[in-house]
Amino acid sequence: MVDATEPLDAGERLDAQALRALQLQRLRASLRHAYDHVPFYRQSFEKAGVHPDDCRSLADLSLFPFTTKADLRENYPYGMFAVPQDRIRRIHASSGTTGRPTVVGYTDGDLSLWSDMVARSIRAAGGRPGDKVHVAYGYGLFTGGLGAHYGAERLGCTVIPASGGMTARQVQLIRDLEPQIIMVTPSYMLTILDEFERQGVDPRSTSLRVGIFGAEPWTERMRREIEERFAIDAVDIYGLSEVMGPGVAQECLETKDGLHIWEDHFYPEIVDPITGEVLQDGEEGELVFTSLTKEAMPVVRYRTRDLTRLLPGTARVFRRMEKVTGRSDDMVILRGVNLFPTQIEEIVLRTPGVAPHFQLRLTREGRLDALTVRAEARPEAGPESRQAAAGAIAAAVKDGIGVSVAVEIVEPESLERSVGKIRRIVDLRPR
Ligand code: DLL
Repeated sequence: MVDATEPLDAGERLDAQALRALQLQRLRASLRHAYDHVPFYRQSFEKAGVHPDDCRSLADLSLFPFTTKADLRENYPYGMFAVPQDRIRRIHASSGTTGRPTVVGYTDGDLSLWSDMVARSIRAAGGRPGDKVHVAYGYGLFTGGLGAHYGAERLGCTVIPASGGMTARQVQLIRDLEPQIIMVTPSYMLTILDEFERQGVDPRSTSLRVGIFGAEPWTERMRREIEERFAIDAVDIYGLSEVMGPGVAQECLETKDGLHIWEDHFYPEIVDPITGEVLQDGEEGELVFTSLTKEAMPVVRYRTRDLTRLLPGTARVFRRMEKVTGRSDDMVILRGVNLFPTQIEEIVLRTPGVAPHFQLRLTREGRLDALTVRAEARPEAGPESRQAAAGAIAAAVKDGIGVSVAVEIVEPESLERSVGKIRRIVDLRPR
């Protein structure tokens, strides 16, 4: 339980040695739980020739096989559950843009842990009991809305469960109900910003103090843009439904230096995305999680496909992960050069004359892939400044990333707006 009168909860007050000991004890129990109750894990451990008893140190985790999204799909819908159905209190699912969604389940204990972790996250972001929290993550099968909701309640906040969409009403609720905190995707925060401007209301004049943004990659430039336009502090929250939902890692307000992973419950590793070899802290690679205390759906070495690095703790004992560069699935390979939407975001947001809205269009010309960056002109930008912006973006991509792209500056308000997770890449290549 989060104790609102204490500055930190018991897990956050562990020293490094006690944390490692707790992790090992929980890891061994979690591997055993997965092996005993999920046939998939029993088979995959046996195939790899390992048994939970082989885990005698945290480093021994690398003996165990990975779990992938494909494994979850193959065991759709309930094959990964480790408890009888009558102990499952709630189901969530990830969107599943291709094929079957991924179904996840929670026991009472899991839901309580999740609330504790989101409460810890909101408090690390500067939230305190009594604060009003406007939740504009979508409610439903997506974990964003309900995850944020129960965590804010657990901390002792007042929740405004706005969910996503109906943007004019979001602005009205923020003005009338005067929340101190907003939890929303950064891209939808920009849509809300447009609506403030459309209504002629100064977005810097609201009661908002902190925004807790996540569910999609966003950059330091985007942080600055949102902080300046709304006069708030913007901090990053990370999570994924397979591991729990929002609240797996959180950036602390006092340092804003990457996200502390709540590693008393979620054990992180960074691996080489190609070879699967475990990398040292500080090296960039794919983030992998093993749950230490989950009941309904333990995960062992789950490959997130998110690319980042592990760094030592600062504001907390826990290790940090750097802001996520992107997902390996969103990496565009253009004439041999790897490119992530976040790299384009950095460039577009520092270019005068364009709004912070952009889209990446992938096409095929002959046998080569081509990329067009479509960025929106600011309303006041005339033809000359638009042309200059196009040139500046193309040059910055060429110099900074090392590849040529086409740039189109489109009319204000013409690109699709986000109401949740934004889709940056439009792939028009023939299948
Ligand atoms: O997006 C959970 C969540 C909700 C996190 C609200 C934060 C806030 P999924 O729909 O399963 O769960 O998507 C998980 O989203 O693997 C990342 O690729 C991406 N993601 C989530 N948070 C961040 C973040 C939720 N802070 C997938 N930065 C993850 C970058 C993020 N990417």
